[in-house]
Amino acid sequence: MLAGASLEEMVRKIFKYGAAVLEQACEPITEFDTPELHELVADMWETMYSAKGIGLAAPQIGISKQLSVIDVSAGENEADRVLIINPEITLRDGKQTGEEGCLSIPGFREPVTRANRVIVRAQNEKGEPIELEGLELLARAFQHEIDHLHGILFLSHLSPLKRDIIRRKIKKLQKAGEWD
Ligand code: NI
Repeated sequence: MLAGASLEEMVRKIFKYGAAVLEQACEPITEFDTPELHELVADMWETMYSAKGIGLAAPQIGISKQLSVIDVSAGENEADRVLIINPEITLRDGKQTGEEGCLSIPGFREPVTRANRVIVRAQNEKGEPIELEGLELLARAFQHEIDHLHGILFLSHLSPLKRDIIRRKIKKLQKAGEWD
């Protein structure tokens, strides 16, 4: 992109369960404040809001990099927009159990137990270190989106029996051409 060119956000394809990129560990981001990074971030927001999600990780659009966006207000409150690059959970506290879904596993929601509060260390778009606290839904979103960056889907937190049932249903959808 040329310097000064306007940033045009693009809705990207969301990869679904079965795509290898979703189950690989992502590479850290090493170059900050570049046009490519700004474009990726803009597209992540656009794609997440267009899919009506509250979180999206870069591997979900096929980019195996450690970057996620979260907005637990689903676009209602600008202050809730969180971008995390190369994040790490440095503290987990308490427990919560609640329904969880994933834009890469549409149509399936299951209760998942997670920490109720987390502290996250990450970097922003400029590469500056940031530290964030998440409680309840935001804590859940942090854990879910950071899992993605390690190639872990919420199915991994279910019992093997539940996981197999969902995998089998997805296989049927794949065979029927209703999952791509
Ligand atoms: Ni997800």
